[in-house]
Amino acid sequence: MQRQAFEWLRPRPASEEERRLRASAPAPGREPGPGKEERLTRNAHAYTIAVGGRGNNGAVEGTAYDAIARLYDPWSRSVTEDIPFYVEEARRAEGPVVELGVGTGRMVDGPVPLVICPFRSYLHLQNDRERRRALGAVRRLLPADGRFVFDVFAPADDDIAETNGRWLEREPGIFERADWDTAARTLTLSVRGEGDETTTMSLAWLSPLEWRMLLEESGFEIEACFGWFDRTPYSGGEDAIWVARPAER
Ligand SMILES: C[S@@+](CC[C@H](N)C(=O)[O-])C[C@H]1O[C@@H](n2cnc3c(N)ncnc32)[C@H](O)[C@@H]1O
Repeated sequence: MQRQAFEWLRPRPASEEERRLRASAPAPGREPGPGKEERLTRNAHAYTIAVGGRGNNGAVEGTAYDAIARLYDPWSRSVTEDIPFYVEEARRAEGPVVELGVGTGRMVDGPVPLVICPFRSYLHLQNDRERRRALGAVRRLLPADGRFVFDVFAPADDDIAETNGRWLEREPGIFERADWDTAARTLTLSVRGEGDETTTMSLAWLSPLEWRMLLEESGFEIEACFGWFDRTPYSGGEDAIWVARPAER
């Protein structure tokens, strides 16, 4: 396991509260493997983007994930740092929750005045047209007191330099390679297992100011922007966790 290049991505150790919430989390029903939090990285999994086509109704018919469907759960099993945060949000909402880009259902099961988009999935959207369209759909789903909660990242230059173009073993037998395009602000991520399962995805990032503007232009107001899932206020790091609610008309 090569960890050097992803050193910056390593998750913070879980607090007691996080462990308690995780243990009682209703949805994923899965605990991290022994020692995972200590040796695994945080953000490598943020690198994803849809390459699937769209049907006549605009729905995504397939994504780069299809090719690694069997690898997805082992690939993402160390990504647990966000679960207590989203579970807490879901409990607070006391109603149905919609998860965008639900994947294998890693985050929450079933319904609920909250829309979430965990695991940097919003970065799958490649341009402002797609981002606005999705925000409009979220906005229409939410009542006046509803909330949209999602997390994104924007890489730092030194992180890019450390990981660019290198195959790294993310999990035993599962490798990733990140190719960053800082001019386009996109990341192409390749993932492969030991067999013939392989895929290439792309992800597009924005600055926090741009996220704020997009949200506000799409009829949201910002309730909070955290820098991590422990609700530390955002102060300029790579991660940003947005809590937005419909703006008062
Ligand atoms: C990083 S995974 C996150 C999955 C899940 N939310 C989780 O936390 O484990 C991103 C998910 O977004 C989905 N996705 C990608 N592009 C999408 C799009 N344009 N519309 C809807 N879902 C998309 C993928 O199929 C995948 O399930």
